[in-house]
Amino acid sequence: MNGMDRHPDYDHLQRAARDHLWMHFTRHASFDDHDVPVIVKGEGAYLWDAEGKRYLDGLSGLFVSQLGHGREELAEAAARQMRELAFMPIWSYGHPNAILLAERVAGYAPGDLNRVFFTTGGGEAVESAWKLAKNYFKYTDKPLKHKVLSRTIAYHGTTHGALSITGLPTLKQQFEPLVPSTFRVPNTNIYRAPHGTAGPDGTDAEAFGRWAADQIAVAIEDEGPDTVAAVFLEPVQNAGGCFPPPPGYFQRVREICDEYDVLLVSDEVICAFGRLGHMFGAERYGYQPDIITCAKGLTSGYAPLGAMIASDRLMEPFQRAGEWFAHGYTFGGHPVSTAVAMANLDIFEREQINAHVLDNEAAFKATLDRLLDIPIVGDVRGAGFFYGIELVKDKSTKETFTDAECERLLYGFVSKQLFAEGLYCRADDRGDPVVQIAPPLICDQSHFDEIEQVLRTVLDKASTLI
Ligand SMILES: Cc1ncc(COP(=O)(O)O)c(C=O)c1O
Repeated sequence: MNGMDRHPDYDHLQRAARDHLWMHFTRHASFDDHDVPVIVKGEGAYLWDAEGKRYLDGLSGLFVSQLGHGREELAEAAARQMRELAFMPIWSYGHPNAILLAERVAGYAPGDLNRVFFTTGGGEAVESAWKLAKNYFKYTDKPLKHKVLSRTIAYHGTTHGALSITGLPTLKQQFEPLVPSTFRVPNTNIYRAPHGTAGPDGTDAEAFGRWAADQIAVAIEDEGPDTVAAVFLEPVQNAGGCFPPPPGYFQRVREICDEYDVLLVSDEVICAFGRLGHMFGAERYGYQPDIITCAKGLTSGYAPLGAMIASDRLMEPFQRAGEWFAHGYTFGGHPVSTAVAMANLDIFEREQINAHVLDNEAAFKATLDRLLDIPIVGDVRGAGFFYGIELVKDKSTKETFTDAECERLLYGFVSKQLFAEGLYCRADDRGDPVVQIAPPLICDQSHFDEIEQVLRTVLDKASTLI
């Protein structure tokens, strides 16, 4: 116990969780022989479970809790707004915080991304972006343009449209047929660059970036430029374990998009709001998207909110008399969520959260790099406060684990053990097996050391089990 008592209703919570709660992306049978972890409190970078045990929040919930937990100021902002105006939709109406937040987010966004369409989360923002791309081209005399490109292993959400854009076959199978017209291009995982794409020794990042970007042009040509509407890319791709863009990648993608009149959608549901030390990842990597999708860190998770930010050019046809974007969500731009987002961004500025990330990212990376002396740690990659640690069976050949080994090692041991040792994070095998680390943006060297120590203990032990 780290200072808290067992929850007085512990047994009831366990029973009710088993009998009634349908957890997301969860193998329910795995709780047949052990309790459901119930998290009851958060403070700063830490979480506490219903038995009173403390955990470092190594994943910011789900890449969400940028400012950490327990911020009184954000709770006050929510309560104030609930008293003032609990609900009003933004369907032909405004309310002050939706208006002011739109103005503020447009101010942070690069170039002429001046129009903010609020949603309740990331998948809806992705869905909205695809619908906007189709609708825009219908309104501008290119009605055939409707197809979307996205990268292999990339995750873009679970609604039918966003799932169709997602590049993870195992997440899609059970729900097919999905929305037609989406196509995959390679991701930027240089650790596993196809032979010959990253120079003679496989380490030429620029050559690899050029190759990966050019595959977008190839896919556009294959599908027919008149039919392709958009390409969806994360600044740093999460699924698969943090693939940063090679130098020049996004610049080449921008050229290709301009050449073929294909919209570049920067899916920043994870990367925006400080995760990479900037308000937007596009800013970090110096490219100009046509649309940004974002969510998560916009409120640091104190209320649900997402947004699609579109350029002036994309808004223009919708300002003509009689035209509209026939799309929206009851809770998009919710008064409480937008009030919380404003207060969240006030703290970002006051505490200079982005500068803190940039000042500390090298130390964080260096701390995680220490793990490379463990036999099964193949690669540590990422940027800002966003890292993936790839586990391999053989470091010299980069041989990965079989499905059965993955099951035994990743889910059977690493996942459970990290949590048992007091680190909440995620072991993931949507691509090759990785441990994902993305702590709150307030963390410092003491937290980095704590993360490294728990990972070392568990991964050292895991190395002996293969
Ligand atoms: C890049 C990306 N896009 C979209 C989504 C979907 O967001 P949500 O779960 O809020 O619908 C996610 C979720 O993690 C994401 O990482």
